[in-house]
Amino acid sequence: MTIGGGPRGPAVLVIEPMGNAGRFLVEAAERLGLRLYAATHKDIHDGYPVWLRSALAGVCATDLADTPRALRDMEGFCRRHAVSGIAACFELFTPLAALLAQRVGLPGNDPVLAGAARNKILMGEAFAAAGIPAPRWTVVHDAAEAHRVTRSGELGWPLVVKPAEQGGSWGVSVVDTPDRLTHAVGAAQQYTHAHPHGLELDTRALVQEYVPGEEYSCDTVVADGVAYPLPVVRKDTTGGRYRIETGHTCPSGLAPPLARAVQHVAARAALAVGVRNGIAHTEVKIPRGAGTPYVIETGARLPGDNLCEIVEAATGVSEAVACLQAVLGRVPDTVASRAAAATIRFLLPRRGGVLREVSIPELPGTHSELHLRPGDTVPEPADSSCRVGHVVARAETVDQAGRLAGRVAARSRVEVS
Ligand SMILES: Nc1ncnc2c1ncn2[C@@H]1O[C@H](COP(=O)(O)OP(=O)(O)OP(=O)(O)O)[C@@H](O)[C@H]1O
Ligand SMILES: [Mg+2]
Repeated sequence: MTIGGGPRGPAVLVIEPMGNAGRFLVEAAERLGLRLYAATHKDIHDGYPVWLRSALAGVCATDLADTPRALRDMEGFCRRHAVSGIAACFELFTPLAALLAQRVGLPGNDPVLAGAARNKILMGEAFAAAGIPAPRWTVVHDAAEAHRVTRSGELGWPLVVKPAEQGGSWGVSVVDTPDRLTHAVGAAQQYTHAHPHGLELDTRALVQEYVPGEEYSCDTVVADGVAYPLPVVRKDTTGGRYRIETGHTCPSGLAPPLARAVQHVAARAALAVGVRNGIAHTEVKIPRGAGTPYVIETGARLPGDNLCEIVEAATGVSEAVACLQAVLGRVPDTVASRAAAATIRFLLPRRGGVLREVSIPELPGTHSELHLRPGDTVPEPADSSCRVGHVVARAETVDQAGRLAGRVAARSRVEVS
């Protein structure tokens, strides 16, 4: 079924643009003079915000959880609307995008490897095959198996337990002692279907070696198999059992050789999971004093958390523009045009409950956004869904941007009862 339509420029079909990166893709399509189409479910499209509905040239309404049907519907849609590029905005649909591109004969990722960008078990295998430094891991089907694995002492303590397929740190926990293992495996295995499309998930869990150190992310655009590294971004998270992302800063502050090492390993990770025409978001940790970044994960999609905004504010590079160029088989624009700084900082509640009051003031050089409103339920701070809002600060240097964001955070109020 097609909803809406309108002629203009080459066309790109985005498989589910409702996530954080969707708004950056919309802006980028405007800049490039592209027609943007969405593939989604009819009821999900009904809930799209007005800015997204009005930016789309049309919608392929299908069932993305039913791969054969979705491929049939999207293939017909691509042919009817002369679509020349396919991009997946949701990580779970990146293998579907690769299959569709192959079927329609458009530039796309390797469909044989694409599952490794969605499933952390396949990803671990792909990293091992490519010799990419990554935490050691093992797959477990239940808590008893996890206890057997940890008794061997092979992975040491602490450990990280995580779902094979999920995002936003949902179901991920750092486990210090065996008595917490059963709960952690249960948390990692709780998701059988992904919200909101109802996609069936692999419910196996991974038990991983814990990599200490600072965290960074680095995105890689790949066009016709050639990797173009994007700037490195420093990532802040909570400590303790649940690692929730609390902020991202660009530039990263890493010394140039280490920043290049991060870009290099991120590019290798992207290629290892079959990214050929598109973008990958890679997360790494660097143990203190070490020169080797360890890859925690990579996804064949634009980053979330407003990282597109942070990177563009700091460097002038639009990741969304580069991604659209890559899926169209064009050479992406990835050369920095400015050397400024930007940071995003998320506001977290101390505990879950009902949000009674929330306010984030704005200072010159900052802007903020609320994710939840008074009266909303705030989940326990165990994953990114508990974040109540964020502030973005732009400045000439990282220190200035950090101070600005810190001043806003200090004056913000989050009351939960
Ligand atoms: N092996 C590890 N060693 C140390 N920390 C880890 C490890 N695996 C995960 N973490 C921490 O947990 C966080 C979430 O894990 P991971 O990125 O694998 O899950 P995710 O749900 O896919 O995350 P995202 O929020 O990026 O979608 C990481 O950002 C990192 O802080
Ligand atoms: Mg992650």
